[in-house]
Amino acid sequence: MNNDLDQIRDEALTRVATAEGLDALEAVRVALLGKKGSISGLMKSLGGMAPEDRKAAGQAFNALKAQVADAIEAAKERLADADLEARLMSEKVDVTLPVREQAKGFVHPISQTMDEVTAILGEMGFIVAEGPNIEEDWYNFTALNIPPEHPARQEHDTFYLPGEKNGHRMVLRTHTSPVQIRTMQNAEPPLRIIAPGRTYRCDYDATHSPMFHQVEGLVVDKASHFGHLKGCLIEFCRAFFDVDDLPVRFRPSYFPFTEPSAEVDIGCTREGGAFRIGHGDDWLEILGCGMVNPKVLENCGIDATEYQGFAFGMGIERLAMLKYGIPDLRTFYESDLRWLRHFGFSALDVPSMVGGIG
Ligand code: PHE
Repeated sequence: MNNDLDQIRDEALTRVATAEGLDALEAVRVALLGKKGSISGLMKSLGGMAPEDRKAAGQAFNALKAQVADAIEAAKERLADADLEARLMSEKVDVTLPVREQAKGFVHPISQTMDEVTAILGEMGFIVAEGPNIEEDWYNFTALNIPPEHPARQEHDTFYLPGEKNGHRMVLRTHTSPVQIRTMQNAEPPLRIIAPGRTYRCDYDATHSPMFHQVEGLVVDKASHFGHLKGCLIEFCRAFFDVDDLPVRFRPSYFPFTEPSAEVDIGCTREGGAFRIGHGDDWLEILGCGMVNPKVLENCGIDATEYQGFAFGMGIERLAMLKYGIPDLRTFYESDLRWLRHFGFSALDVPSMVGGIG
């Protein structure tokens, strides 16, 4: 009996030791210790033994079973290590391979400029407001003190949507100023908003596109006066163009919705074909502004004897062309990747506050 057991043990351990690979070892485990395995079969044979032999035989079988199970565990670890070793040898990572080039996106100069303008004015306490691109005539013109027969309507080269039977027709907004009206109707002063967005005029050449962008600004409270308007816009121009002592000039002008109105010029030089923003003997117009016309306040239900304020509007394309030296406005919309790679910005560039706002 003992001899038989020794033989079974030797055979079992040899099979475990010589199993090649984890799959083979598992097959050996099933053959020995599985439900129908040979060592499990020994356990079942206990039932047929004489009671006096059973105890000793049981202990011997259990010892054999434990010994074989331990051997299988040890073999498993050894084979798993060998497996890993073999994979490490065969699957080498070639760290000298050149990296695959990743397509890199660029921020369009229009988006960049909008972000810069918003960052500077946001720092001054303006919050962003929005309005629809397809606008009621009343918001785009009438409420802004441009009645139906007003000559300013002709200057705007408006895109009209097809009219309805009753004569009512919508327009593509010709400026962001209708957002002034919507803001004044929907919120109580004090107000301090900017409205960046798309605007539309039927015009197309090197400095005009039928769709372009503006940023509107509006302040309404009880005390803001022309001095605040000037201070705000001078600081804005200097921060945006990053020139601390940039000359800024307010030239009297006319807009139906502001009174008095002004156009803002910044100093520049045009010597020998070179153009530079800063000190010089020339001026360049960059935005329109003025004190909100009391008629506009009244059109929005705001008491003009109590409230006043100022407004301004600027063209984003124009600002971007001047700051980044882009000669033709039409190129903004041609989607030429070579152009975008040249004039675009890294997505990681935080809107520039270079120079701060003083
Ligand atoms: N809406 C004017 C334009 O498009 C700009 C402007 C806005 C002027 C606000 C004065 C005040 O030309």
